[in-house]
This record gives sequence, structure tokens and C-alpha cells, in this order.
Amino acid sequence: MRFTNTSWILLGVSAVAMGCGDDKASPGDRSPCAANDGQCIFRHDTFGDEQLWTDTLKLHELVQTLSPKAALSVGLKVDATAVPAEVLATADLDSPATTVALIELNAVVGVRGTVVDGQITRIGITCALCHSTVDNSVLPGVGNRLDGWPNRDLNPGAIMSLTPGLPGMTAKLGVDNAAAKAALMSWGPGRYDARFNQDTESHPVLLPPAYGLRDVALETYTGEGPISYWNAYVAVTQMGGHGNFVDERLGIEIRHEPDRVTPMLPALRDYQFSLQPPAPPAGSFDAVAAARGKILFDGQARCSSCHAGSSLTDAPKLHAASETGMSPHEARRSATGMYRTTPLRGAWQHPPYFHDGSAKTMLNVVEHYNQALNLSLTEPQRKDLEQYVLSL
Ligand code: HEC
Ligand code: HEC
Repeated sequence: MRFTNTSWILLGVSAVAMGCGDDKASPGDRSPCAANDGQCIFRHDTFGDEQLWTDTLKLHELVQTLSPKAALSVGLKVDATAVPAEVLATADLDSPATTVALIELNAVVGVRGTVVDGQITRIGITCALCHSTVDNSVLPGVGNRLDGWPNRDLNPGAIMSLTPGLPGMTAKLGVDNAAAKAALMSWGPGRYDARFNQDTESHPVLLPPAYGLRDVALETYTGEGPISYWNAYVAVTQMGGHGNFVDERLGIEIRHEPDRVTPMLPALRDYQFSLQPPAPPAGSFDAVAAARGKILFDGQARCSSCHAGSSLTDAPKLHAASETGMSPHEARRSATGMYRTTPLRGAWQHPPYFHDGSAKTMLNVVEHYNQALNLSLTEPQRKDLEQYVLSL
């Protein structure tokens, strides 16, 4: 299975050239946000990616047939504050018409659509799809937005695999549709591969948080670049947004005029920088054990040799996979060939751990290091260290 470089996106471009230009664009194809409103951009701006999600993948046809229950089961979330309380109380969660009504209310987190006469005519996705969830205050999957929290229930691969436009797209790309579909299906909840359409390998990573990054010098698990670099990469090459992205290291040069992405990047960055990591819930860790664990973290266990500074990362320094006993696979696919030390504030919030989710729990993380770095920690010491990292 081989996708040609960036052709996934170029297909989206040709759809625009074929008659979805600005004069015919519906309101959903224009930014609803001012260029200085980072929260709005993060939550609601599709950057014109309807060209991919509507024109090519035909996601609207899929969503039109999904009941709210089915939508929640692939990890989509509902912003309860966007739905009048009486509507929420009486909504039929088995009826696809309810899903359409939620789209019309702009209540499905990270999905933005236009509805005309009960039919979704345009649909696109936003940053919030993968990097926000809700607090489940009304129902599981329905509540107040939690921006920056990774949506580890979301199954982007399953959603893409079910889109009616996938066969048309893989046919145009000259790749085997069944193989592409099987790869997408195999990713599972909370995982996405932001390089799949570049190198055709299927090797998803966990959706990371977008909070706690103010003092983190390099973004992504492999330290690809600063925040706006990566935001532009995703907006243009993954979401299918209408904008420019150029990286000679990766051999990518995409230019879409007008560029709807670049002018939004500064406010989008500032909004992400404003997102604080969530404090651990009261009683979720043992404070006395955590205090002992901190001494180990800074001493015998050598964690602070890499997890240093206020966000507990030594980025922009990067590390070879062998330094932490990681699989080198993902690093090899990246522009740097290395891994960035993951910041640890709020880590309690998003198990499993490591880029590939290879550690199910924080204790598994500590056990991994105990072996890989020959730390000879006793079992009580390992638990103390676990409690400390869960307290951050
Ligand atoms: C389809 C899901 C998806 C969407 C939509 C998405 N991202 Fe991401 N994002 C990811 C994945 C997966 C990674 C990890 C990539 C890697 O490290 O290789 C990531 C990484 C990041 C990071 C780096 C986090 C860190 O710890 O270094 C930031 C910041 C980020 N995304 C912000 C955004 C913004 C802003 C948008 C909208 C322009 C966006 N993302 C849209 C899936 C998504
Ligand atoms: C040589 C540098 C280095 C040392 C020493 C080190 N780490 Fe890490 N740490 C990293 C890197 C690099 C990653 C990213 C690995 C990945 O995701 O594949 C990471 C990831 C993690 C994660 C995963 C966070 C997440 O959100 O997935 C945790 C937790 C962690 N380290 C805790 C520790 C603890 C506890 C110690 C001490 C026992 C330690 N680290 C020692 C470099 C280091």
C-alpha cells in the first residue's frame, strides 16, 4: 500500500478547483472566528477542510445516518452548553435526526456542519475533535468542554474507514482500498497516525494533550518543531485545511490560496499556551509516598536527568530510542529520528503512556524504566515513584 507524497491533500485541492470555490461556499466554509480569538479557532475553525471531509470523504453522508448513541460509541462528544436543557432532556438518542440537530446547534465537539432542511450539506473538523473532551456532567460523552484534554475515546481511524468517500479516494490514489480500510480500522480509540498519508506506514500514536505546553520548547513525541509548525502541519496535511505548509526535510510543499491557516496560528498558539494541565483530583494519590517518590525521581531513579524544569522536560534536547528503551520505529519515520522527553504535568489524566501506549499504567512506566535503565528499585520504591508522577 503506497500513497504518493501529499496526494491525499492534493485530491482535496482538486475538489475545490472543481467547483467549491469561495463564491459557492456555504457559511460553514468560512471561518467563524476572528484572527485574534484563539479559543474560537481551536474549537470551531475548520480552516476550509470541508474540501476533504465533505467533497472527498463525504463524512456528512455517514453522520446523517448515525444515531447519537452510535456517534458517542466512536468517541464523539457533545457540548451540553450548546444545547437547550429541555432539548437535551427529551432528545431521542436512537434517532439520526437528533445527531443532525446537534450538528445544527454546533454541539458536537470538533465537528462543524451546515444543515439545510434537515440535511447536512457541509461538514468539517476542528482541532477540538482530537484535543478536547467533555466532563460527562450530563451523560457519558455529554457535558462541559475540557479543551486540551486528549480525546482518548475518539476512534479517528474507524470514522475515516466508514466514510463513503474512502473507496473513491483510495481508487484515485491508486492504493488498495481494503488494505487502507483495514489499516484505519486497526488503530483503535485514542490513536491516530499523522504520517499515514505521507509514508503509507500504519503506526498510530496516542492523541497527546494540548495543555501544559507553554514551557515546552519542541512539540510532538519526536520533537518535530515548535507549536505553530506542528499546528500548520496538521491543519494543512491532516485536516485538509486551506492553507500553506512547506517543509523541505519532509519534501512537502503545499500552497492553497487564500491561506486560511497561517493568519490564525499566533492566536491559536497563545490559546494552547493558556491551557493549564489539570491538577490531580483530591485523594487520587498518596502524598506521603509521593514525597518519598520525588527523592527517587531526582536521585536514584535518575528521572530528572531528562524530566527537568517546570514542565519536566529537557526539550529542545532529544533522545535516541535506546536511551529510554523505546521502540525506535516512530522516531525513524520522523524528521528528527529521536524522541522528545514528554512533559509530565497532568500525566495522571491520560493513561496509557509512551507515544505508542506501550505502558498501560504509571506503575508499568516505572517498571519499564527499572528494567531498561537497570535502576534496581525495590517494589515499594517503584510504588513511591509511581505516586510522585501521578501527583504532578
Ligand atoms: C485527527 C486528530 C487530530 C487533530 C484533528 C489534531 N491533532 Fe494535534 N495531534 C494529533 C496527534 C496524533 C498528535 C501526535 C503526533 C506526534 O507526536 O507524532 C498531535 C500532536 C499535537 C500537539 C503536540 C503535543 C505535544 O505534546 O507535543 C499539539 C500542540 C497539537 N497536536 C495541537 C493541535 C491543533 C492546534 C490542531 C488543530 C489545528 C490539532 N492538533 C488537530 C492528533 C490530532
Ligand atoms: C534519557 C532520558 C529519560 C530518562 C532518564 C527518563 N525519561 Fe521519561 N521519557 C523520556 C522520553 C524521551 C519519553 C518519551 C518516550 C515515548 O513516548 O516513547 C519519556 C516518557 C515518559 C513518560 C510518558 C508520559 C506520557 O504522557 O506518555 C513518563 C510517565 C516518564 N517518561 C516518566 C519517567 C520516569 C518516572 C523516569 C525515571 C524512572 C523517567 N521518565 C526517566 C526521557 C527520559
